[in-house]
Amino acid sequence: MSLKPWDGRFSEPTDKAVESFTASIDVDRRLYNYDIDGSIAHCRTLARAKILTRQEAVDLEEGLEKVRQEIARGEMAFYDRLEDIHMHVEDRLSAHVGDLARKLHTGRSRNDQIAVDERLYLKAETRGVLVQLKDFRTALVDLAEANIHVVMPGYTHLQRAQPVLFAHHMMAYYEMVSRDFDRFAAALDRMDVMPLGSAALAGTTYDLDRAYTAGLLGFSKISENSMDAVSDRDFMLEFAAAASICMTHLSRLSEELVLWSSAEFRFVELPDAFCTGSSIMPQKKNPDIPELVRGRTGRVTGNLVNLLTLMKSLPLAYNRDMQEDKVPLMEIVDTLKACLDIYSRMIPNIRVNPEVTEKAANSGFQNATDLADYMVAKGMAFRQAHACVGRAVAYALDCGKELHELSLQELQQFDPGIEEDVYEAMSVARMIDRRKVYGGTAGANVSAAIARARKHLVNSASEIPGA
Ligand code: ARG
Repeated sequence: MSLKPWDGRFSEPTDKAVESFTASIDVDRRLYNYDIDGSIAHCRTLARAKILTRQEAVDLEEGLEKVRQEIARGEMAFYDRLEDIHMHVEDRLSAHVGDLARKLHTGRSRNDQIAVDERLYLKAETRGVLVQLKDFRTALVDLAEANIHVVMPGYTHLQRAQPVLFAHHMMAYYEMVSRDFDRFAAALDRMDVMPLGSAALAGTTYDLDRAYTAGLLGFSKISENSMDAVSDRDFMLEFAAAASICMTHLSRLSEELVLWSSAEFRFVELPDAFCTGSSIMPQKKNPDIPELVRGRTGRVTGNLVNLLTLMKSLPLAYNRDMQEDKVPLMEIVDTLKACLDIYSRMIPNIRVNPEVTEKAANSGFQNATDLADYMVAKGMAFRQAHACVGRAVAYALDCGKELHELSLQELQQFDPGIEEDVYEAMSVARMIDRRKVYGGTAGANVSAAIARARKHLVNSASEIPGA
């Protein structure tokens, strides 16, 4: 049995229960590629500082590559007694290069090693998320464009408020997801800091060229303070926060799709391939994907709270508590990626029912504001017009009609200035078209917003660093 790295200090072997309790290998083995990348860069930095000979560095590097292959092929055995991925790699390395393996850890601690592994892992995952968000944005723009003439009710308080274009509604989600993209891009910039050289907490005694290590590993910055470098997990908190906000957006969209696909709304038809049925009720077609995405939002937000709680009282610098960061972080990454992937696949296959949404846009007195605006245009003060239309709505409700179903004579009871052109003013097409203000739902605006989005998406390929 191999000795523990700290064996010299200890008079009895570690208790078996302690070994299994403290081990993190089941989780951090996923970091093996990054751990080996970090070790190779460290090796080369040691050689550059003449702490290792060129040959030693080459031998270590070759050995590390062999370990990488063994793990990739599933040939490596993992043991609790070797605790984590760092010790497993070093232990296996000694099988290839013998005692030379014991030189690898010169000038390094597992504290800066795990920090570099996690940053490398999260940088790669964040780039992947940025690519996914770009695809998701494209899917939203496609859906908006394919339905550019579809009108629907816009809601406040989930009550019909004013008609909007379906495309305007979808482009609202485009805006949310664009902000998500920006948040992840900003988080990526801040996680792009290389901590090696910090060693346990105070900095290594060896004269390591940290900028050189950073260059080898593709980091654009090196950490400024060794204590911060080994104890900082802000980069994952930021990722977790960005992921929680992004999932909140997906969850809101999910909620709408669940509602819209119900018999009560019938605004959209979800693709059969993305729904399941019931084991007892033969008629059922359930919106499982939106429901599960909405449900999994809790996991991501819960894990953000987990990470914040983990960090909140930790004194500087490294504390073993921080080993617990991997489970929530990886669950956030995996969940977010899976949800973005399934959504980008489902969105292009959503079918809108334009007759249903149009009928809905024409009911529920959504033209009340426009009728008031019409009266204002004819000279009435807005407050007064609001009151007149309120009375007209009450009257129409009594007759079981919409405002535009009242006769001219009926409408003139509320404002004698009303003329025949009021019906045009109260039409859905006119109401939408009048919202020409920048950011409003007028068709020309929405088409322009779609065009801007398309242009941005074409140009933004270069926005994803390293992608
Ligand atoms: N497995 C540990 C972690 O994930 C690595 C660092 C351990 N450092 C230590 N001093 N025990 O945090």
